[in-house]
Amino acid sequence: GVTGSIAAYKACEIASTLTKAGVNVTAVMTRSAQQLVGPATFEGLTGNRVIRDMVESGQNANIDHIAVSNSADLFLVAPATANILGKAAQGIADDWLSTALLVTHAPILFAPAMNTNMYTHPAVQENIATLKQRGCQFVGPDAGRLACNTVGPGRLIEPAEIVEAVWDLLKRSDTLAGKHILLTTGANHEPIDPVRYIGNRSSGKMGLAIAQEALQRGAKVTIITGPSDVTLPPEARVIEVQTAQEMSNAVMVHMDEADVIIGAAAVADYRVTHPSDEKHKRSTTALNIELTENPDIIGTVGAQKREGQVVIGFAAETHDLIAHAQEKLNKKHLDLIVANRVGTSDSGFGRDTTDAQFLFRDGTVEQHPVIRKRELADLLMSHIVELLSKHTTLPASPQSGNPEVSAERP
Ligand code: PMT
Repeated sequence: GVTGSIAAYKACEIASTLTKAGVNVTAVMTRSAQQLVGPATFEGLTGNRVIRDMVESGQNANIDHIAVSNSADLFLVAPATANILGKAAQGIADDWLSTALLVTHAPILFAPAMNTNMYTHPAVQENIATLKQRGCQFVGPDAGRLACNTVGPGRLIEPAEIVEAVWDLLKRSDTLAGKHILLTTGANHEPIDPVRYIGNRSSGKMGLAIAQEALQRGAKVTIITGPSDVTLPPEARVIEVQTAQEMSNAVMVHMDEADVIIGAAAVADYRVTHPSDEKHKRSTTALNIELTENPDIIGTVGAQKREGQVVIGFAAETHDLIAHAQEKLNKKHLDLIVANRVGTSDSGFGRDTTDAQFLFRDGTVEQHPVIRKRELADLLMSHIVELLSKHTTLPASPQSGNPEVSAERP
């Protein structure tokens, strides 16, 4: 559904991306939307006739909206104006789109887009709350400067995030139903004194992507997270920690109940040996801080895993990716390691994309030049399903140190 927001043109990118991915998309446009984007654009992008109005010559609108509404697997309204949200919440059916939203039994996903004052108005917020109570899903809006030059919430969220929300709803499966995935994610803060800490640049985006993909496949997900910049899914059990030691303690408590343990966190290898209870005062001499090694969390899990458990790690490398990752795969007794490049503009800490390779115990390497972290997590889940079905950990690969990269995984 496309309604009359200035952001209507962005629906073209959504329709195009989904169509190219093999989704059968039919655009339903309100009158005001048609004044912003021509229906022919959507017909060209989707290959399907655009449904424009209740009564059109040569169509039996009644059959049309029943047929399309009932055949839809998902109803996405992007952008969704205050007007369509109000009609949907109040059951008003005065045009094709609002009528179809009452007819369909498919999940409904709204991507709101409007002026900040409208979005924050109690009437709109009450309509959104009503729709959420009925099970409608929402993605966005974003906050920032809008076309009307106001600043605040109300801007249509990026099309890529809307497409991911669509996949979340379309791709639900039960391939991991009954399985419990334990995941570490985020950074650590190792205290120096009450004011300062040693941290790292992990944003938690990779861990979030893994959690989302696992939940989508019906898994139970426990996330042990250090400080991060992302909001984790409410369907997951989230345990918040600060230091590597706290992260390690939490993993040891929960690892036995898990079928899969994934170390995506950027765990601090060292902590301050003697953190100060008082703030270090600035002085003219250098401040020397002694560090002590932290436990290797995923390595401990790998060494202690029970039969049938799958343990997966990540290798954050700036150079010699394969060699370093291969060493960690073996040293930490992992079933699979994701070797991801860090420190580049499109891969690593805080990025939405990653340049990664899967290394398996049988020596094969699966390369994935820069893809979105969600896509990598999707691929990772498929391998987890395979590894769980094998229920065995293959013998360590003969290579050690400097392996010959064997043929790509079939
Ligand atoms: O969070 P993002 O901003 O999205 O960035 C994602 C990421 C780059 C942090 C992530 O993809 C990643 O690579 N995480 C692992 C980072 C890391 O600590 O890599 P490493 O090569 O230093 O550690 C290897 C493995 O051992 C990792 O699975 C790590 O979680 C684990 N480890 C490391 C040290 C330690 N003391 N305990 C551990 O469990």
